[in-house]
Amino acid sequence: MASQIKGLVLAGGKGTRLRPLTYTTAKQLVPVANQPILHYPLDSLVQAGIKDIGVIISPETGDAVKSVVENWRPSGVKITFILQDKPAGLAHAVKIARGYLQDSDFAMYLGDNLIQSELSSLVETFAQEGADAHILLKHVNNPQAFGVAELSADHRIIRLVEKPKHPKSNLALVGVYLFTPKVFDAIDQIQPSPRGELEITDAIQKMIDNGNTVKSHTLTGWWLDTGKKDDLLEANRIVLDAYCQTELSGKVDNHSQIRGRVEIGKGTKVINSVIQGPVRIGPDCVIEDAYIGPYTSIGQGSRITQAEIENSVFLNACQVSHIPVRIEQSLVGQECQITKAQGRPATYRFMLGDQSNIEVL
Ligand code: DAU
Repeated sequence: MASQIKGLVLAGGKGTRLRPLTYTTAKQLVPVANQPILHYPLDSLVQAGIKDIGVIISPETGDAVKSVVENWRPSGVKITFILQDKPAGLAHAVKIARGYLQDSDFAMYLGDNLIQSELSSLVETFAQEGADAHILLKHVNNPQAFGVAELSADHRIIRLVEKPKHPKSNLALVGVYLFTPKVFDAIDQIQPSPRGELEITDAIQKMIDNGNTVKSHTLTGWWLDTGKKDDLLEANRIVLDAYCQTELSGKVDNHSQIRGRVEIGKGTKVINSVIQGPVRIGPDCVIEDAYIGPYTSIGQGSRITQAEIENSVFLNACQVSHIPVRIEQSLVGQECQITKAQGRPATYRFMLGDQSNIEVL
């Protein structure tokens, strides 16, 4: 059954909330636990038996997304890229994917979302219950930031509203949806929202209004929407907790200590350092006279010397050296350098990209 269902992954959009990282990369390509976020939705679809997947891309980041997806693609998986010329909304993305999706049922997965649940059981339930759409919900503390569902006492969906100022519940719409082609009729009947987008939330509401059957399931496991810095650090924490193993492919000298689950990539050298997992360090890094604490991911080719880092994500080719204060809760883009200012006590010297954010003593 699952093999007839197609997948649709949304990897277009603007990524404004993750600037400055998203000036040079798509937000779906920012790594969580050293893997582009986009790998997680794609893996999840494939694990659910879905081998025919459309990927929505934007003109700005489409080439980068294409190359990451092509490198990831397992054999037997067919990928179709669909160019969305402007970020006109999630329902707009579905609309332009119609030629690809044709009359198949499909699982739509937002390229910056991760869920703990196995998609396969959701796909099976969808096939068995014969609904026209199946949505996932999750209790959250900040429903204003999401699509929000109001349910009746017997769990039927009464109303769905996109980012309401005064939410009627704390049940957010998760970025994973199952649809029959009836969603296209609903999309044809909706107008852009106040933020100028064709909202998938409005399309699902329209399906309900049209008498289509829309079912929901409330997730109990984790759900991560990696749209902002703290969400991304949280995603890094949860994914490392769930998946990090012990795998020491690099070289660790006798003066170093590795505690807990730590993955160290090929060609990486750990010298006179303490690494306290869960931690993932990519290939070709040097970690010297350093402490790398729990929930940290360090990207390929980085060099950390005389520094302490915890609970942070460093992208590829970063250099951190001689920092007297522990670095925590930080998200650092590619090729950034953090070094001690020489010969000038009590000064800070910065060269920061637009919309950078630093907190100092
Ligand atoms: O994360 C869950 C939330 O996702 C839901 O609760 C909301 O109901 C839903 O509207 C959506 O809200 P966001 O405002 O967080 O969506 P965002 O603009 O971040 O886009 C989600 C993904 O879809 C992201 O990977 C970019 C991609 N996208 C977005 C737009 C607007 C596209 O591919 N094309 C687009 O036109």
